[in-house]
Amino acid sequence: MCGIVGYLGPRKASPVLLEGLSKLEYRGYDSAGIAVIEDGKIKVEKCKGRLANLQEKLKKNEFTGSIGIGHTRWATHGEPSNKNSHPHTNESGTIAVVHNGIIENYIVLRDWLTSEGYKFVSDTDTEVIPHLVDYYYKGDLLDAVIKATKKMEGSYAIGVLLKNEPDKIVAVRKDSPLIVGVGENESFIASDIPAVLNYTRDVYLLDDNEYVVMSGEGVTLVDENKNVIDKEIFHVTWDADAAEKGGYDHFMLKEIHEQPKAIKDTLTSRIVKGEKIKLDSITLTKEQLQDVDRIYIVACGTAYHAGVIGKSVIEKLAKVPVEVDIASEFRYRDPLITEKTLMIVISQSGETADTLAALRLAKKENARVIAVTNVVGSSVSREADDVLYTWAGPEIAVASTKAYVTQLIAMYIIALYLAEMKQSVRESEIKKIKDGLLNLSERAAEVLNNKEIIKKLADKIYEEKDMFFLGRGLDYAVAMEGSLKLKEISYIHSESYAGGELKHGPIALIEDGTVVIALATQEDLFEKMVSNVKEVKTRGAYVFGIAMEEHDYIEKTVDEVIYIPRVMPILAPVLSVIPLQLLSYYVSIKKGCDVDKPRNLAKSVTVE
Ligand code: G6P
Repeated sequence: MCGIVGYLGPRKASPVLLEGLSKLEYRGYDSAGIAVIEDGKIKVEKCKGRLANLQEKLKKNEFTGSIGIGHTRWATHGEPSNKNSHPHTNESGTIAVVHNGIIENYIVLRDWLTSEGYKFVSDTDTEVIPHLVDYYYKGDLLDAVIKATKKMEGSYAIGVLLKNEPDKIVAVRKDSPLIVGVGENESFIASDIPAVLNYTRDVYLLDDNEYVVMSGEGVTLVDENKNVIDKEIFHVTWDADAAEKGGYDHFMLKEIHEQPKAIKDTLTSRIVKGEKIKLDSITLTKEQLQDVDRIYIVACGTAYHAGVIGKSVIEKLAKVPVEVDIASEFRYRDPLITEKTLMIVISQSGETADTLAALRLAKKENARVIAVTNVVGSSVSREADDVLYTWAGPEIAVASTKAYVTQLIAMYIIALYLAEMKQSVRESEIKKIKDGLLNLSERAAEVLNNKEIIKKLADKIYEEKDMFFLGRGLDYAVAMEGSLKLKEISYIHSESYAGGELKHGPIALIEDGTVVIALATQEDLFEKMVSNVKEVKTRGAYVFGIAMEEHDYIEKTVDEVIYIPRVMPILAPVLSVIPLQLLSYYVSIKKGCDVDKPRNLAKSVTVE
């Protein structure tokens, strides 16, 4: 996730670009930069850190040109640093590019371009783009960009400046957002609408593979064969604040809806049909793995709940004993850590104090540590031996949603990776799970299309004081996360319980009308779960079930049910958590709570 902008018109470009970037900083703030054409040259200023750093630099070195591009970065390939900041240029500095997305085949392209004599100065995937454009430039920038993009695999929204065509910006998108703002004698590109709202409310919402040519004559949209595309202008009516949330009322709702993409991005290049899993950033060898006698998964909050699923999945597939622990407990309980221990820490922010302390404890005892984190360059990513990034993009709402599902995906990836190395399960089984994973993004989108029933449930239960979430096996772990979500943002007290455990005490709390959310997605535990539901129904509970399609037998037992699409039970948590996230969201709205910034909580807890 990064933000890009571009401007061409009568004003000085630099302040317009900086203002646009300030509206896109939510997309990442590892570095910022702009490139402006001035006095027949492309001038670039860029630096690590927030936009404010760039603004300071530009105060001393003002750019006056009226055409330029800009970027705010959320690092993926290459740590946050000056050299990895965008814009990136070709060697002679005559082509500048800003990019949001990931060029998946950048290694192949870089090797090829290097063999053609091109020199690379950064660690980014993006840097292949200015070199590709350079390679294909034969007097027409649009032609060169079209040819370059045909070589590129992955996702991109790019803006390109060329010294030789100083009155033109060429841009294109594929699987990354890009809009074009159309003003009077001026035009803009941006990753998101708020970046241009101070200048125009008329925008083109680009679709994939649409190329933009901005010049003094206006904006032209063309396809890859240079046929002009006749597109309707979209007139923005919402205010800037709403637009930053992409039209959603809250960041949480936006992030819930971003989950299909986050799932896809996290799987990209890790699970590839027909190929063994390769994880560039994990260098654990087969021999080292043979020595591992125990895995600890350590995390806090929602990340811990992802760890609970991780334990089951890794034990099932990799056949190694796994303990999962809350970081603040782990660090003070004298855990048995040896050189044969493999620790996996999970942390969205990568900065949680207790998780970091647990990691350091393991390192001190010479254990090997894998970090699963969403923030490139975060403390856990720097201190661990290996890192597996979740590609959820910046998560702004305090209550974690898309980071959680990508943490689940990371657990599957690690479990399958270990299983392949150890050959601990049949290849056919591994293949089935991989295929299932590759279809999960679409299945998650289907769950998101089924919100009405959840809204109705929220209307019914929002005044409750106490609720229960029940599940068995993986469903129990999801129940924990559902219960936490509800507590966090709607302040309703709730408990999660393993279905079979309820009768050992908590069932005493069930009375007429007590709301119970019962998860029953695990095929082999379905009958047992139905029995547990009957136990609470008999005592007067109102039960809302979550089951997989085709398990409609559950309708006989529960009051209401929502079905998730049929997937392998091991993968069901990725889908079954979505209705629970939506439930807590709608309950919170109904109660008038501050959804994105719930009381007493913080997104990143850097104190113990
Ligand atoms: C806080 C946040 C939670 C998060 C937890 C762990 O409590 O509010 O949403 O799950 O910290 O954070 P981490 O960044 O380590 O995943």
